[in-house]
Amino acid sequence: MSNPIYKDPAAPTETRIKDLISRMTLDEKLGQMTQIERSVATSSVVKELCIGSILSCGGSGPFENATSADWADMVDLFQKSALESRLGIPVLYGIDGVHGNNNVFGATIFPHNVGLGATRDHDLVRTIGEVTAIEVRASGIHYDFAPCVAVCKDPRWGRCYESFSEDTDLVRKMTSIVKGLQGDPPEEYPKNYPFVAGRTNVVACAKHFVGDGGTENGVNEGNTVSSYEDLERIHMAPYFDCISQGVCTVMASYSSWNGTKLHESHYLLTQVLKEKLGFKGFVISDSEALDRLSHPYGSNYRKCVLSAINSGVDMVMVPLRYELYLEDLTHLVETGEIPMSRIDDAVERILRVKFVAGLFEHPLSDKSLIDFVGCKLHRDIAREAVRKSLVLLKNGKDPKKPFLPLDKCAKRILLAGAHADDLGYQCGGWTATWEGKSGRITKGTTILDAIKETVGDKTEVIYDQNPSSETLANQDFSFAIVVIGETPYVETMGDNSELTIPLNGNELISSIASRIPTLVVLISGRPLVLEPDVFEKIDAFVAAWLPGSEGGGITDVIFGDYEFEGRLPVTWFKRVKQLPMSAGEKNYDPLFPIGFGLKMKLVHNMS
Ligand code: GLC
Repeated sequence: MSNPIYKDPAAPTETRIKDLISRMTLDEKLGQMTQIERSVATSSVVKELCIGSILSCGGSGPFENATSADWADMVDLFQKSALESRLGIPVLYGIDGVHGNNNVFGATIFPHNVGLGATRDHDLVRTIGEVTAIEVRASGIHYDFAPCVAVCKDPRWGRCYESFSEDTDLVRKMTSIVKGLQGDPPEEYPKNYPFVAGRTNVVACAKHFVGDGGTENGVNEGNTVSSYEDLERIHMAPYFDCISQGVCTVMASYSSWNGTKLHESHYLLTQVLKEKLGFKGFVISDSEALDRLSHPYGSNYRKCVLSAINSGVDMVMVPLRYELYLEDLTHLVETGEIPMSRIDDAVERILRVKFVAGLFEHPLSDKSLIDFVGCKLHRDIAREAVRKSLVLLKNGKDPKKPFLPLDKCAKRILLAGAHADDLGYQCGGWTATWEGKSGRITKGTTILDAIKETVGDKTEVIYDQNPSSETLANQDFSFAIVVIGETPYVETMGDNSELTIPLNGNELISSIASRIPTLVVLISGRPLVLEPDVFEKIDAFVAAWLPGSEGGGITDVIFGDYEFEGRLPVTWFKRVKQLPMSAGEKNYDPLFPIGFGLKMKLVHNMS
């Protein structure tokens, strides 16, 4: 028997979709609308239920410190089960590769988005997308829940570092990462149609639609109160760019707009996103978002399924209770509460993405990509991003006597602070695990490692996280570098209404800076309160955001091999009670305005 049309790569995508959907049973269609977590995905479940997608929730992998090859083997096993299903529809495997393929041991870890926003370099950010896609595909994974295109209007939001900026236009510029992740659609390619160039690209996901960064007081999953015009102008505009670049999927936000949950806003998900903006990929829910539509959590789940699917959600990231989800969804279709036309629309969108992603032709991993994971070329790109992300906020107590660049041949350097030699801290959340953690969590270069590689062999580097007053008094240090900041956090656990420097950072700075000329490097996902009496003791101050695995990017600049280029992507407030505060508002009275950034005025060979 000849191959069915849907299996013919030469056939037009829309023809393949129509042919395949005409062959599908209701169970197979509903299976495609289901995304489950790998921990509940057995071979028989994937095959018998025709599951559309599997994901790794943050930190969920084959085993601790699993390499790309281990991941690829795991994903291929799931895929082989999917290919054994009646129609052989391949499964999409998804993961949060939000600053590199941050789940895989040894992968290149880039600065989080807030640092990329400080670079304002859309070409570099696009290249980072390309590299991330290669390292994700090297793990056999096809689908990356990135980029987050939130416009973060309040640094108290626990996901602030996932946002490129508080400025919509800067976020729009950074959506170039979509072309990096998915590839660049050719001129003649249909407008707004999902696009994936090839086997070193991934299905991307613009998230979280819409207004996730604009909630009242920055409360995660909270409520964004605004006119539609402001919602569109401030928070929706980056989606125009993602859709015009062919983004394949959009993730609905947990948050609400004017009291309506996004996951049950037919107006925003269907009338605006699909009809007005012409989005032709699929809308995926956030994890357990349907459970959060009801109170108490998870009660009247069937109503939540009804509301979300009829509002325009196409695939549900269940991700664990898939039997209940499918039971409720099946009941709702059989009773006609969810029309078959809605199901067919959802399944068409899902199949469209799978066809354009080449999944039917290349369902299994390409092991030849594994050597690129964490390779020098990729790490050099990450190191460049670190350099360009650094923002110099103070350079010398007397502007006429700049403190930086530091002397590589200094006699004795004191390096202090909990973040000076902690790869996990410099990577932040969404690294190795969901929430991130301290320590040597992957391969990379800490700031201490980088300093040792940078300074002259006669220079003594004394690393002491919390030096005693004796240490400070008894040794004549040329200068001190104090590296402090936030410990890793993610999502709601990052909501913070104090925004002070943790781990007694101010006391440490004061004790050192009052005795030794001091540079402070802040590792954080956002601006933090800088106490004036402490700040005036400091000789120089650098905001390094969450730089990722390549700490060498920091020493490249502070020791003068490169000039500072970074400029604030967000407002640096004076006091928390000023928040929310954005440029253009009448109460705008920042410590440092968005766009601020000093230079060292290097005169020698500026690379
Ligand atoms: C999380 C996040 C979302 C992520 C998803 C899968 O709760 O909100 O950004 O892509 O679940 O991990």
